Amino acid sequence: MLSSPQGLQMGGVERELTRARGAAPGFKVAVLGAAGGIGQPLSLLLKMNPLVSTLHLYDVFNTPGVTADLSHTNTSAVVRGYLGKDQLGPALDGMDLVIIPAGVPRKPGMTRDDLFNINAGIVRTLIEGVAKHCPQAIINIISNPVNSTVPIAAEVLKIAGVYDPRRLFGVTTLDVMRANTFVAEVIGVDPKEVNVPVVGGHAGITILPLLSQTSPLFSFNSKEVEYLTNRIQNGGTEVVEAKAGTGSATLSMAYAAAKFGEACLRALQGETGIVECAYVASEVTEFPFFASKVQLGRTGAEEIFPLGPLNSFEREALEKMKGELQGSIEKGVNFVHKPK
Ligand code: NAD
Ligand code: LMR
Repeated sequence: MLSSPQGLQMGGVERELTRARGAAPGFKVAVLGAAGGIGQPLSLLLKMNPLVSTLHLYDVFNTPGVTADLSHTNTSAVVRGYLGKDQLGPALDGMDLVIIPAGVPRKPGMTRDDLFNINAGIVRTLIEGVAKHCPQAIINIISNPVNSTVPIAAEVLKIAGVYDPRRLFGVTTLDVMRANTFVAEVIGVDPKEVNVPVVGGHAGITILPLLSQTSPLFSFNSKEVEYLTNRIQNGGTEVVEAKAGTGSATLSMAYAAAKFGEACLRALQGETGIVECAYVASEVTEFPFFASKVQLGRTGAEEIFPLGPLNSFEREALEKMKGELQGSIEKGVNFVHKPK
């Protein structure tokens, strides 16, 4: 057996096959935090995606094992593993899309902001790597608190002189998936038929489902609005409590991230008319970062749509989130500019 520079154990035959398959058309995608609860199922879903030709799995733990396991699935994407910070550069070289679920998850009783002290530094280091090795890549940030980690990434990219706000996304797809699922239960239809825009941020009251803009149109009574808004805003906590100290949403998040990542790749390929909600640099509200409907294209976020008409409940909810969202954004920006 030979050991590749990536720490993967490969026999000669496998190595030749890997080389031959390296020429397949498609996109190069890296998952940072690939051995984790989200990283593993997300990597599996990406390995199944015909748009992905090369899949790089980076983590500080267990990537050789996850890579060996995944490499036995008979899809054409070539998978390579990278372990530890010395291998961050090779993991990122030439990537089209970088998806980041690295960092610690919540335990019961914690807020997402309680993760800041550990995850802020992790995201900063990983984005420094992106700035150096694949500054043109589309970046999808999953690591919490998303309301702060995306501003952190933006500041790091600015310092490196490679910031393009169109290419940086906080992934809020799980909020939309939850909204679609819970609304479908209430109105009694297939969740695939439902689309609820979810705007604001990705924590508690900053998660604002625009139920008045649900497609298909549905007139919810005030009890339904209260129940749905509360359940969507606390969907993450529902999972954290059910997992009782063993982590937060992983399977649903992996599915959501795979969906959003695929939307980015389809747009990169030139498909038009792709609209997803995501947390992006924005001028739609007074906040410098805000989740809303975004049209994806070859250059990333090509158009950010206005919020559209809000009812009084939604206007009030938007007002209520202001302090928290602004505070989380400032916390992220200040983190990058304070001395290390
Ligand atoms: P996990 O602990 O199972 O996995 C995290 C992985 O990150 C681990 O494998 C760990 O080794 C790795 N890691 C730690 N430091 C690293 C570093 N410096 N470089 C690379 N990898 C590193 O956690 P999880 O359940 O996969 O959750 C990951 C993050 O995603 C958490 O912050 C969680 O809050 C967040 N999350 C976000 C959403 C969302 O909707 N945006 C949803 C669910 C979870
Ligand atoms: C979620 O919404 O599931 C994630 O942000 C994880 C969490 O801590 O709730």
